[in-house]
Amino acid sequence: MVNYGAETTTDEVLEGFNLNDRHFMITGASSGLGEESARALSSVGATVTMLARNPEKLEAAIKGIKANNPSADLRIGIVDLADLSSIRAYVDNFLQTETAIDVLINNAGIMACPLMRTSDGFEMQFGTNHIGHFLLTNLLMPAIQSGKNPRIVNLSSAGHTHADVNLEDPNFEKSEYNAWESYGRSKSANIHFTQELARRHGSYLQTFAVHPGVIITELGRHLTPELMEEMVERVKARSTSTDEAKQTGGLPFKSMEAGAATQVWAATTNDLQEHNGAYLGDCQVGVEGGNPSENGYLPYIYNETTAKELWALSEQLVQQEFPSN
Ligand SMILES: NC(=O)c1ccc[n+]([C@@H]2O[C@H](COP(=O)([O-])OP(=O)(O)OC[C@H]3O[C@@H](n4cnc5c(N)ncnc54)[C@H](OP(=O)(O)O)[C@@H]3O)[C@@H](O)[C@H]2O)c1
Repeated sequence: MVNYGAETTTDEVLEGFNLNDRHFMITGASSGLGEESARALSSVGATVTMLARNPEKLEAAIKGIKANNPSADLRIGIVDLADLSSIRAYVDNFLQTETAIDVLINNAGIMACPLMRTSDGFEMQFGTNHIGHFLLTNLLMPAIQSGKNPRIVNLSSAGHTHADVNLEDPNFEKSEYNAWESYGRSKSANIHFTQELARRHGSYLQTFAVHPGVIITELGRHLTPELMEEMVERVKARSTSTDEAKQTGGLPFKSMEAGAATQVWAATTNDLQEHNGAYLGDCQVGVEGGNPSENGYLPYIYNETTAKELWALSEQLVQQEFPSN
């Protein structure tokens, strides 16, 4: 395995790759890490279908990428992950014209918003970050199954340390809402989903959950000084006595190119064949009990029972069952 780390960039990960015959689909590609992933992958020949809910914003992102790479093969898909009918309509349409996706990167996300609900009544972070991607991925499975060495990469976060999923009250109908707890639950859900995908579909696909690091993007749009303070306290509390976040009281920030590197690595490397379903950070396989600001994770994210129960709950919420393969 090549020795990558926190500062490795997307272009370094892709050095020597020719992705001319590969089709990637990326959610939340209108900004931040999704946009950078689309730029980097298309720069080495990949066809990239960029999904977003805001067409103007997506057009602007594409214009930016094409300004430096006019031949970039970029396609557009408009889908709102906070609306199950939008997801179903998009996939119905997509499957009529396209037969294969080689790599799906479930990158879209929303963080620490006030209590809001999706069109279908789910709490917004759980509904967007997990349920929307759960439905999108499963509906796209016929195209993914037709892909060459298919992969699914799910963006998670060190924020999984804020909370595990709550299967009794996934939509904060009984418990008091807390923006960080909600984000934590949704990012833990991304990892359980990854694990269950690996169990159900691992015979023909690879799937990984990724913590990208801390990168200044529009993800912070809902942050208030109080939420920032709460986050710093939570990070300090979860840190080990020796790690950098505890010593500095801060977070090690990454550039956009280093931030998107782990998901691009997960989407393309041949080094992870023995690690299907793994949690990754800093372009490395995750370490249980390690520093969450790097590639460390809490043990509760690897729990087969929770993963199976979350899958069953998610099927119930989207009112559709998806078979194993
Ligand atoms: N940045 C970090 O430090 C960090 C750390 C850990 C994990 N992550 C994860 O990395 C991923 C990418 O985040 P980012 O930092 O690149 O943030 P970002 O710049 O805010 O990008 C998020 C993308 O998701 C889209 N999105 C949000 N809600 C959506 C919906 N209902 N339907 C469709 N698209 C939707 C956004 O579109 P709009 O602009 O239209 O809302 C945007 O394109 C997220 O999953 C996040 O949890 C980021």
